[in-house]
Amino acid sequence: MISKPPGTEDIFPDRIAAWDLITGAAREVFRIHNYREIKIPVLEFTEVFVRGLGGESDIVSKEMFTFEDRGGRRLTLRPEGTAGVVRAYVENGEYNRLAACKLFYVGPMFRAERPQKGRLRQFNQFGAEMFGGGEPFYDYEVISMMNMIAARVGIDDYTLLVNSIGCPSCRKDFLNALTGYYTGLKDLLCKDCVVRLERNPLRLLDCKEASCQPLKKDSPKITEYLDEECRSHYEAVKKYLSEGSVPFQEAPLLVRGLDYYTKTTFEFVATRLGGQNAFAAGGRYDNLVGEFGGRPTPAIGFAAGIERMEILITDKKITAPGPDAFVIHAGEAARNKAVSTCTLVRKNGFSAEMEPAPKGFKAQLKKADREKASLALIIGEDELAQGSVTVKDLQTGVQEMIREDSLIGYLKGKLRR
Ligand code: HAM
Repeated sequence: MISKPPGTEDIFPDRIAAWDLITGAAREVFRIHNYREIKIPVLEFTEVFVRGLGGESDIVSKEMFTFEDRGGRRLTLRPEGTAGVVRAYVENGEYNRLAACKLFYVGPMFRAERPQKGRLRQFNQFGAEMFGGGEPFYDYEVISMMNMIAARVGIDDYTLLVNSIGCPSCRKDFLNALTGYYTGLKDLLCKDCVVRLERNPLRLLDCKEASCQPLKKDSPKITEYLDEECRSHYEAVKKYLSEGSVPFQEAPLLVRGLDYYTKTTFEFVATRLGGQNAFAAGGRYDNLVGEFGGRPTPAIGFAAGIERMEILITDKKITAPGPDAFVIHAGEAARNKAVSTCTLVRKNGFSAEMEPAPKGFKAQLKKADREKASLALIIGEDELAQGSVTVKDLQTGVQEMIREDSLIGYLKGKLRR
């Protein structure tokens, strides 16, 4: 037997109802906020992520699935959506001329992480990116969209963490202070953090190693180093959130694992998820479009992990519905009638199922129950003789004989379509 690679999943139909609930809620919330869908390649030149996420980020330095194509070019399976969307936006002359461009995506992402509950190597995100809106209102809009999606799928046990990591200019003083603080603690740092201290000190705050956690408590807070523009932006975002009744907690140590962020960063975390506690996250990235060669354009976005959201709603027992009708028959003539009835029902937009090979009534009824059909449409000798079908409601057990030519009208009433 050949098995699937570690950290990947087969998503069978029993998970699709929850999946559709989550992506359906996201699509609807994006629609009412005027976001439109973009589909971008799963494969990009590696450079897109090195430039976008930063060479020192964990994702780029350790977690990308990268290979050379036959022409010797380096390609990477996308670990996230933002860098590719920015690449597409800059490359497409029409869209980047729009004053404001609101895009969303849904699809698989790939990270070579150590698999565990809620941490996969192939996982799925939906996300939104907004270009051309530098005002704090758009930070609020993006955050409140995710808040609305969580509410629509029934996720309520979570905390929204918000921070501002400022712009490169106000981050300089902070990084000096941070480097000073951690240099004094060098002997206590994990192996990775010793490298982070040298190469990318902001990532020190992102370390997940248990021994490094207590060191963060007294470290300098970035919000104390914000310049006037970044500080007033942050204040305005918090005001919008409060006025929009989006509960949040300030998290001055939240820096996020990607290098493109400026100003606002945020995470939706749920303790129930354990170690991998964020089910959605994002932030502003006002310099990324410029870094990709585009006209400098402020931007903000977020992405949510569909599998992590699914974990949070598993106790809600969302089950996929069975077919509307299961057509049951006895005898050769009844079987032919069953085939035409099944086809007629399907042509009218109802889902229908039947057993082609002759089996007893009982066995067919059992199967209809197992498949969670709503109705059994029974065709035996009596029904054939009378040009009728017996419709049995499999929930209540009530059955009635319906004339063939009224069957579709009856189903429309019964199944409310
Ligand atoms: P991220 O925090 O790397 O941000 O990922 C967003 C979400 O994807 C996480 O909160 C989590 O729910 C899910 N996720 C990440 N890694 C895994 C994994 N290995 N297994 C399962 N789920 C995972 C981004 O990707 C940014 N592009 C978000 C963004 C958009 N920022 C601005 N615009």
